Amino acid sequence: MPREKMISFRNRWTVTSVTVTAGIFVVAAGLGFVLLPRLEAGGQVAGIWDSICRAAGLPRPGTPSETITPDYKTSLVKIATAVPRKRDEEAIGRGATLAQQCAICHGPTGVSRADSPNLAGQYASVVYKQLRDFKDGVRVNAVMSPFAVKLTEQDMQDLAAYYSYLPRLPGFHPSGSNPVPRIVASGAPTRGIAPCGSCHGSIENKLGSPWLEGQSELYLKTQLLAFISGSRQNDISSQMRNVARAMTPEEIDQAAQYYANKEPLAAE
Ligand code: HEC
Ligand code: HEC
Repeated sequence: MPREKMISFRNRWTVTSVTVTAGIFVVAAGLGFVLLPRLEAGGQVAGIWDSICRAAGLPRPGTPSETITPDYKTSLVKIATAVPRKRDEEAIGRGATLAQQCAICHGPTGVSRADSPNLAGQYASVVYKQLRDFKDGVRVNAVMSPFAVKLTEQDMQDLAAYYSYLPRLPGFHPSGSNPVPRIVASGAPTRGIAPCGSCHGSIENKLGSPWLEGQSELYLKTQLLAFISGSRQNDISSQMRNVARAMTPEEIDQAAQYYANKEPLAAE
């Protein structure tokens, strides 16, 4: 058969193969651009053009962009600008006066004898953020919240300046007698946990992460369990909830015991 005849429309083989190919294209386009997007959208497609846009992944005009917001209150604190970095003697003085009402629980020198968290030497940004979160109802505690709601912005700044200025308890971890548990020293890379100290200050302080050494075991454990259950959700971007939820119960005990070690070395 001469070559020109083969690709002529008078040749029924050519006509059949072109028709079949075109048919497959139409059916496939119908399935892929119209039917499947419709099924996937559960009937919420406006028309053929809309379902084609959907299939191509193009943003469709007219649909409001949905922002996903959590169904609980999140912290309103902007950590980076929360507290001034300069030491301010006047603020410390005002903070000391205000702190008298806190002393029954947090101790006259910021070291608690009552299983409330120690505040002496806590980072100013942490003291401020936690007070704001209690005041805003973002972190809730029946004992603590009533004291925070009365504080003004200036009071919280001054209390942060005062407590961060007080000296921390001296070194807690006598070498040898209290080995660092693995979860604290190296985290759990396969579960996405960085070493605790990489945020909490013994290696590096990620702004807003509290100093933990010397807090009571009960307090530390309660907080970790609260992050897991979601009764505490004030950590920005779930930083701490993600860590706590990936920890095993043994690791929680080990970390709480380690950070709580109550045998201070003689002060150097
Ligand atoms: C009646 C006891 C009590 C009084 C008084 C009190 N607090 Fe507290 N505070 C607590 C308890 C208990 C917690 C821990 C709450 C929890 O478990 O979530 C806490 C937590 C805190 C925290 C968070 C610490 C952290 O590491 O996350 C800060 C900051 C704080 N208090 C500051 C203050 C200040 C400032 C005052 C005085 C204006 C004050 N508290 C008065 C009992 C008290
Ligand atoms: C990615 C950084 C990061 C890592 C890693 C991390 N944390 Fe935290 N953690 C935070 C932040 C941020 C907060 C404060 C949350 C807030 O704003 O209330 C926090 C809070 C806590 C608290 C509550 C303390 C208080 O006084 O309120 C405990 C306890 C704690 N972390 C334990 C741990 C332990 C144990 C580890 C290691 C297994 C760890 N964290 C690893 C970022 C981290």
